[in-house]
Amino acid sequence: MNKKLIQTICMVLALAFVACQSKNHSVTSPDGAIGMEVYLKAGQPCYKVSYNGKPIILESSLGFDLKDMPAFKDGWKIINSETSSSNSTWEMPWGEKREVVDNYNELKLFLKEEKAPYRKMNLNFKVYNDGLGFRYEFPEQDGLKELIITDENTQFNLAGDHKVWWIPGDWDIYEHLYNTTLFSGIDAISKRNHSNLAQSHIPENAVNTPVTMKTKEGVYLSFHEANLTDYAGMTLKVEKDELMMESELVGSDRTGYKVKRALPFTTPWRTIHISSTAGGLIESDLIVNLNEPNKLGDVSYFKPMKYVGIWWDMHLGTKAWDLASGKHGATTAYAKELIDFAAKNNIGGLLVEGWNTGWEHWIGFEDREGVFDFVTPYPDYDLAEVVRYGKEKGVELIMHHETSAAPRTYDQQLDTAYNLMHSLGIHAVKTGYVGKLIPKGEYHHGQWMVNHYRRALMKGAQNQVAVNAHEPIKATGLRRTYPNAIAREGLRGQEFNAWSSDGGNPAEHLPIVAFTRMLAGPIDYTPGIFNIKLEPYKPDNQVNTTLAQQLALYVVINSPIQMVPDLLSAYKGHPAFQFIRDVAVNWEQTKVLNGEVGEYVTIARQDRASNNWFIGAITNEEAREMHINLEFLPEGKKYQATIYEDGDNAHWDKNPTDYKIEILEVNDASALDLKLAAGGGAAISLIEIK
Ligand code: NOJ
Ligand code: CA
Repeated sequence: MNKKLIQTICMVLALAFVACQSKNHSVTSPDGAIGMEVYLKAGQPCYKVSYNGKPIILESSLGFDLKDMPAFKDGWKIINSETSSSNSTWEMPWGEKREVVDNYNELKLFLKEEKAPYRKMNLNFKVYNDGLGFRYEFPEQDGLKELIITDENTQFNLAGDHKVWWIPGDWDIYEHLYNTTLFSGIDAISKRNHSNLAQSHIPENAVNTPVTMKTKEGVYLSFHEANLTDYAGMTLKVEKDELMMESELVGSDRTGYKVKRALPFTTPWRTIHISSTAGGLIESDLIVNLNEPNKLGDVSYFKPMKYVGIWWDMHLGTKAWDLASGKHGATTAYAKELIDFAAKNNIGGLLVEGWNTGWEHWIGFEDREGVFDFVTPYPDYDLAEVVRYGKEKGVELIMHHETSAAPRTYDQQLDTAYNLMHSLGIHAVKTGYVGKLIPKGEYHHGQWMVNHYRRALMKGAQNQVAVNAHEPIKATGLRRTYPNAIAREGLRGQEFNAWSSDGGNPAEHLPIVAFTRMLAGPIDYTPGIFNIKLEPYKPDNQVNTTLAQQLALYVVINSPIQMVPDLLSAYKGHPAFQFIRDVAVNWEQTKVLNGEVGEYVTIARQDRASNNWFIGAITNEEAREMHINLEFLPEGKKYQATIYEDGDNAHWDKNPTDYKIEILEVNDASALDLKLAAGGGAAISLIEIK
């Protein structure tokens, strides 16, 4: 080797050494607004984040507590680093938009312990214009085959006492009302023991994700995770005095640890949405972008659709799931009546709950193993005939599997249950996990259940079945990789308005959900109740919005399946039902026209199959006026706008069904002035005039 070459190699090595030991590694978003610095402090990895040059996440450390092994904390050195950039687009097979831009800068740090046992760990950071994600990688290495994680200690050190929209860090359920407090006022413990929850476990003062915040300077942040695979769900422990959150993984009383994994593996991404507008949170693609591309290929067996159901009857108490009640809902005759209605009204699906044996031992039974079976219909329900009749009319059956939180029973039947759907040509299933989990000691959001939910999803994929899970694990963007994950509950749904003892979902609920839960992924909320006061069935309950808001939710809520849940008597002959008939469920593009967390939001979406647009606007208990520009419409085209608006005297409680319909011709130069009543909304269809 010549002298010059040796000199050059030495210089490169020296530079690399300096680079690795130099205090800070940094990576910024493609537009430069978000900056991230990563460094070792006393041998412990730390990061901080700035937004438009100002600190937004202060120094926060990273690490793990492990079973039978020293913690992953300090004693690290950075042995290598890599940076890269990527800018591509990919297509959603269905969803809120067709094309997704995936543009980020990436930093990868390779860490090794300075002393024996010289364990290795990598840190991976991706920074986008709409936020960032980072995760831990545990590469294959000598002497370390498996990790048993007793705690993940990822910190998020806030730069102020922000306003926060939060639900408690419940290990079993997300069906809580949102709370709005300063960070220093978060008290999740006070939310324990809600009488309407069949399962709930809030071990400490922590919040569930996505948790959304607004700083005093008007920056919006939301904390969540992406690609939750073979790992425990993450709650965020709240250290009020330090204004800090730290990951608190959902555990298991059976095993005493949080996560067990063989190496190599990566953790889910820890994500932070960052936006200067509230609407920017909704328009963000951060969560899906941090997931791997589609692994299923063509999923056109699933068609985005509206669906009716034998469902609201049960929540109103007019019918029941079980046969022994004497008011069984799932009969062949009723299913056919609904199919006829769906076929006439541009509704593609029918959900039938209570069709299979076992419901006599559903709620309140300790021993629920082996109770439900997912292939045997009650004698008054002819499954094959309902499927046949539906197909004849162009209406698909959505299968229903309530597991009653006995996942081992469901696991045993996955093959037979999904084969049955395959043989009948059923392409969607709604699953449910109501109740305390069996086996005792496991929780809905722990690693054991994360893997169960995934098995069901994969079994669905093998059988061309799309899954809509209730009492699910939270959405973390896996719909990109497995687009048969179509929607899920994972929030306090409409059903609470039918029976909860705490007054139902207040008018602010959905204006909060749009900026929190909805950032995770599609929601099966079941909007569209017209009989707002639930008369005469439920005198003590009601929906706390106007009828016009119920219409607007078909656009505001993101989901490729939208239920049309009310009893047919509420819809038949109702002029406002035309909006539900017309509204699309699969979108070319989505624009958030205005919004403020917990107050109001207006979303415009373009139908994927046409040039038609739909707009939904909703408000909390405050009435408000809105000026909406239609400049997003394509130039040179004319539209018929049908506006379904709150009536002059509308009010969510005093006069919820007061509404009016106005028809106008508009184009991209038009603007609309909307009046939203307290708890109200507006729904607009913009149909191209050809
Ligand atoms: C809870 C679900 O959220 C609800 O929609 C369903 O009707 C019941 N479980 C029964 O499965
Ligand atoms: Ca539920």
